Amino acid sequence: MTATPDAKPLKGLFIRTYGCQMNVYDSERIRDVLKPLGYAPVDAPEGADLVVINTCHIREKATEKVYSELGKLKQMKLASGGRMTIAVAGCVAQAEGAEIIRRQPAVDLVLGPQAYHKLPEMIARASRAVGDRLETEFDTVEKFDALPKTRDPDGPAAFVSVQEGCDKFCTFCVVPYTRGAEMSRNVDDIVLEIRDLAAKGVREVTLLGQNVNAFHGPAPRLEGGADWTLGQLVRHIAKIGGIERIRYTTSHPRDMDDDLIAAHGDTPAMMPFLHLPVQSGSDRILKAMNRGHTADEYRDIIARVRKARPDIAIASDFIVGFPGESHADFEATMQLVRDIGFAVAYSFKYSSRPGTPAAEMHGHLSEAVKDERLQALQALLRDQQTAFNEAQIGKTLPVLVTGKGRNPGQMHGRSPYLQALHFDGTEALLNTLVDVKITSASLNSVTGERVRAHEPAA
Ligand code: SAH
Ligand code: SF4
Ligand code: F3S
Repeated sequence: MTATPDAKPLKGLFIRTYGCQMNVYDSERIRDVLKPLGYAPVDAPEGADLVVINTCHIREKATEKVYSELGKLKQMKLASGGRMTIAVAGCVAQAEGAEIIRRQPAVDLVLGPQAYHKLPEMIARASRAVGDRLETEFDTVEKFDALPKTRDPDGPAAFVSVQEGCDKFCTFCVVPYTRGAEMSRNVDDIVLEIRDLAAKGVREVTLLGQNVNAFHGPAPRLEGGADWTLGQLVRHIAKIGGIERIRYTTSHPRDMDDDLIAAHGDTPAMMPFLHLPVQSGSDRILKAMNRGHTADEYRDIIARVRKARPDIAIASDFIVGFPGESHADFEATMQLVRDIGFAVAYSFKYSSRPGTPAAEMHGHLSEAVKDERLQALQALLRDQQTAFNEAQIGKTLPVLVTGKGRNPGQMHGRSPYLQALHFDGTEALLNTLVDVKITSASLNSVTGERVRAHEPAA
């Protein structure tokens, strides 16, 4: 690195990210916020000037990881003669910030998900050893206003946060407490962010929100009028030059409106993939979870989505072993999975979270029962995932090339169905869309051969 005499020396920044895509987005923005202060990303925490742990509170295991990681960082901080600054961000910071400072005094700063725009100010305070080390106010609007307007995308696909927080209060979930009330960004700001990304080569955007389809952002200033829905936003983004693919995650069944469903059928940029968590197939458990819909209502939504876009890949989340879940309730979940057929799914053992209503319910199940049910469910879901991937063999799919593959001469990308895809190709194809004919498939990926434009796809 050649530094001019008056250039600020770079400071090493290491960010470790846990949890959902929202945290991945936040970590990127933390990097953007710190860039003007001379912080540049480094690959390892050893020797870094600032280490940020962006945490997840969703399950007990996720939270415990934070404390074990902080123990290791403390040793590194000692080895650095105390030069390393340790910051804890994200949902654990929000939920138990004071507890973190008490349990691990080596931590210099604690900031919640709606406070990371205040990092520069907090770092300055910490260096002078004055003021509060904890920022957990919910200033979502202020945060988005304060973030730098331009970003440095990592590749051809980028996350864009459009909605945050949750008012649904599922009885098992900490998110409404860690992320705060539902709030949507305004359309002008979102469009500016995406135009900037498109100008820097981004081809695919994934719109993020804890309940992204509850989006109700203020309309463009020129148009005024009522707030826009996610369907309106998607159709508008599809017109931005350079943006060829749009995804959104995560949705709630209650907010799956007709216009959004229609957009899957009539907006070519809309990718054929829908992540719609259902959690359980038992109406009794869905009610106890406060999900606000029945299993049949979920089946009906999926049928309507498939009518609009027959090849759509359906993804979901499941919780097994919710308090009071009987064998029949669990069987109802298995039946729903058999009925729908998922392309991919994430399944978890219920984890009791302090402060949530479900933690106080009767009928908590043993780990052994939860384990058994999780294994049965995951075996079924794995079979479905493999079947979905195998069903692509022989098809030619457009692939957004995102990186080098595992083997030399191989490139890696994502299919429209969000499958990891490997094919023989060179780095010249990076960041472009190419056609690949699928030749083989496994549980976690598909492999194919590039179909060149001038060659007929035999
Ligand atoms: N907003 C999204 C999901 C957020 S959390 C939604 O509403 O679907 C991601 C997933 O973690 C959830 O879908 C759920 O399956 C799981 N999860 C949340 N709380 C949990 C808990 N207490 N125990 C186990 N899994 C949980
Ligand atoms: Fe949690 Fe339910 Fe909100 Fe999803 S909808 S974030 S599961 S409370
Ligand atoms: Fe975890 Fe917070 Fe996301 S609890 S799942 S990082 S919203």
